[in-house]
Amino acid sequence: MPEVTPALLESLRPAYEKVRHVIPEVEWAVHAPYIARINELKKERNAVILAHNYQTPDIFYGVADITGDSLGLARDAAEVDADVIVQCGVHFMAETSKILAPEKTVLLPDMDAGCSLAEGITGADVRLLKERYPGVPVVVYVNTSAEVKAEADICCTSSNAVEIVESLGSDRVIFAPDKYLGQWVASQTDVEVILYEGSCEVHERFTGEEIETYRRQHPGVYVLAHPECPQDVLKAADYVGSTGHMIKHLEETTAKQVVMITECSMSDNVSAEHPEKDFIRPCNLCPHMQRITLPKILEALENMAPEVTVPDTVIAGARDSLQRMLDVGRKKAA
Ligand code: 13P
Ligand code: SF4
Repeated sequence: MPEVTPALLESLRPAYEKVRHVIPEVEWAVHAPYIARINELKKERNAVILAHNYQTPDIFYGVADITGDSLGLARDAAEVDADVIVQCGVHFMAETSKILAPEKTVLLPDMDAGCSLAEGITGADVRLLKERYPGVPVVVYVNTSAEVKAEADICCTSSNAVEIVESLGSDRVIFAPDKYLGQWVASQTDVEVILYEGSCEVHERFTGEEIETYRRQHPGVYVLAHPECPQDVLKAADYVGSTGHMIKHLEETTAKQVVMITECSMSDNVSAEHPEKDFIRPCNLCPHMQRITLPKILEALENMAPEVTVPDTVIAGARDSLQRMLDVGRKKAA
């Protein structure tokens, strides 16, 4: 591991300038040798680091090559030119990368980085839904296992859920597992949405009352919320969108004070790009996303493990569901 010298710190100065408002210098000195060594090892291994918007700023600005929401990371995994992907995110994201880029080695620095949504539904649950509603197409959120994706007709993310539901040309769809995202979709379309009882343990904790309190305490505050939040939160928000859409939308608003109702590392990352805005930061952390740390990323690159694999029995079916989703986006762009 490199020593912490003034020269090392100087070489990482551009990255530190992005995060100095959230990481004190003494803490950065602890991160610096890891960042330097990870960046060296990435070159040796021909690896890229894909980091979700919820990763902490030391990872997001120190070592990530590509950052984004679930949809953006899935698209990039399929296209990126590298032998190795280090997925800084949770297990279903690493599985998605492996399904879309089976020839690449996909490393997940902590195999216990799960997701309450993905854990709340199995392939057998989807089969039961299909038996109960014969002929009704099944849309599954990308926050699911490969086995669940393989049972579905198509995947969606929070960036494209409404578009995917409408693309099926059916007047009813089954939508699983996130009931709140499903309710949000139902409020935006004429298609009847059959819901499943799943939720995100981070977003379900936000309440509409909390939003009212922010508005009282910070008159004029602009509220952006993730569609995994309960309906009263979404009704009280000024804008609802995926993490990627929230970031884009923020660039277009002139509001001086903002609050992002989602996992709180994201506000730290986004505020680096918007020093002109004042971020109110409610802090709901995703315990799964937080499992990914610089020491674990380094260990993964050193040992080329833990590696995420997808069983042969489900990979083709899961790829079809993901590919149909990506094709809907392509058709729209064409
Ligand atoms: P996005 O697709 O909006 O990035 O959301 C992923 C996620 O896990 C939200 O909790
Ligand atoms: Fe899953 Fe929620 Fe964490 Fe996103 S924030 S990874 S949906 S538990």
